[in-house]
Amino acid sequence: MNSRELREKFFDFFKKRGHTIVKSSSLIPDDPSVLLTTAGMQQFKKYYTGELDAMDSFGSQRTVSIQKSFRTSDIEEVGDETHLTFFEMFGNFSFGPVGTDNPEDTGKIGYFKRASIYWAYEFITNILEISENRIYVSVFAGDKEISFDQESYDIWKNEIKIPENRIFKGSRQDNFWGPTGEEGPCGPSTEIYITPSAAEAEAGKGVEIWNIVFNEFYKNKIGIYQKTENLGVDTGMGMERLAVILQGVNNVFETDLFVSIMAKINELTPSADNRIKRILADHLRGAIFLVADGVLPSNKEAGYVLRRLLRRILAYQIVNDIHADLFAESVEIIKNNFGEFYPELNKTKEILNVLEEEKVKFEETIGRGIREIEKYKESGKEISGSEAFYLYETFGLPFELIKELAPSKLTANLNKADFDREFEKHQEISRAGAEKKFGGHGLIFDTGELKAATEEEMKKVIRLHTATHLLQWALRQVLGNEVKQMGSDITSERLRFDFSFGRKITPEEIKQVENLVNEKINLNLPVYFEEMSKEEAEKSGALAFFRQKYPSVVKVYFIGFKASGEIISKELCGGPHVEYTSEIGKFKIIKEESVGMGIRRIKTILSN
Ligand code: ALA
Repeated sequence: MNSRELREKFFDFFKKRGHTIVKSSSLIPDDPSVLLTTAGMQQFKKYYTGELDAMDSFGSQRTVSIQKSFRTSDIEEVGDETHLTFFEMFGNFSFGPVGTDNPEDTGKIGYFKRASIYWAYEFITNILEISENRIYVSVFAGDKEISFDQESYDIWKNEIKIPENRIFKGSRQDNFWGPTGEEGPCGPSTEIYITPSAAEAEAGKGVEIWNIVFNEFYKNKIGIYQKTENLGVDTGMGMERLAVILQGVNNVFETDLFVSIMAKINELTPSADNRIKRILADHLRGAIFLVADGVLPSNKEAGYVLRRLLRRILAYQIVNDIHADLFAESVEIIKNNFGEFYPELNKTKEILNVLEEEKVKFEETIGRGIREIEKYKESGKEISGSEAFYLYETFGLPFELIKELAPSKLTANLNKADFDREFEKHQEISRAGAEKKFGGHGLIFDTGELKAATEEEMKKVIRLHTATHLLQWALRQVLGNEVKQMGSDITSERLRFDFSFGRKITPEEIKQVENLVNEKINLNLPVYFEEMSKEEAEKSGALAFFRQKYPSVVKVYFIGFKASGEIISKELCGGPHVEYTSEIGKFKIIKEESVGMGIRRIKTILSN
């Protein structure tokens, strides 16, 4: 079955069951707390909460869509058989209140677990004609906060008659979904898996193709799950994975969704590694869809995601000696494949301009790296693993590109393993440095690592420690959520804070950050912590220092008022902290500098 038929069948099936077909929303969501659209339900958030009425907007409480989606979480995985950045997601949706929940009811009233499970199963087995023996499912097992999804389990077992040994119970990690962003609808999910043949079904060795989420909760900004009366259904089925199954091919790049772009890449660079060809195909397609929705390359948020895709493409292009105009060719191909469904792709000229402009900028950066390599040429000195890593860190030159650009006699002994070792060593050094001083983030006094000679000094360190939380919060306010802590170092004199960000911070931005922090200090906000499971803390959206391994029960420090929901900072941290922000004193940034590719450092002091 080709992808066009698949699109038609999906829409047709749900249309016959009372659903209104709704166009995909943009990849740029209208929710500032989310970087990119990652799921079909995002455009419907307000219908789940009852803020908007689906009957008014769509003439039905049921909708169906094929949503453009983009996920950065698997970006390093791209190049294997299944992972992609950009993909299309099929989904049917229901917004409460719920009617009969009878699958025979093809009206326009909301439905819930029974109808959604029946329909998903019917679509897979009757319309797609996938054998029942190749299916297994999972349901939410329950945990101390949210109970086991008995209802879904019973429907699968007693009504659909899936054998018990093919119904798996999954944890929060696998069978609970949402919300996207800081707050929103979420709930337990049931998933449908397809195996290559009947033999693998009991072993649970298949591909997840359909995720059916029952929005029974609303998670608010401070991480509390509230039961909601507006029961909703949100489903998601990855189109590319489904195409692999229906087209009997081995991976997503062999489906008709990728055939023409892969053919072009093969033609231009037949000898390139398969993985690289797939990365090029994924990134080109993803980048073009992003640009078509108005994303521009930058060092912030979605723009930064786009820049990374484009720069990786350009680097591979140089390495693989692709002289053809890959951007121009791809823009045409993607338009031909998808323009009919996504008319924004038809503005090929505008899209191409954006891509070309970034190419020029990239070539300038590469130019600086090349000049550095020239120095090696002059001296005839070989490039070591650690020097290659320096070129990568400072000029963004990927390993392959260094190999390519430098004369081969200078890189004869340079191998990837050495480079990777440098990379790991670098990570370990930063990790060790951070842990030594802070236990990853929170100050651990009893390790004796902290050098505060007097009680007075210790008080200053604590004030700077709370200031660290405010600083991270303010940086994210001003520069975006791309900012993540990479390390910090506090003495009684000053705070040094390292974080991820792709460019110099302007004096105006520094001023804004400084003002925001001082403003919150002056508000005299309370600072306090709660202990919770690591999982709960993560779910609540509390910031964590990713390099740190946390115990199963963690402290989460809050700054702000919980009762009114005005929490500004929420971080996993061992403490201690001041009790009220006014104890911190006046906060001042004295320096901002780069300490590596994509890492900035800020130094601050306090005055009384
Ligand atoms: N929103 C759910 C998902 O993306 C269906 O998996």
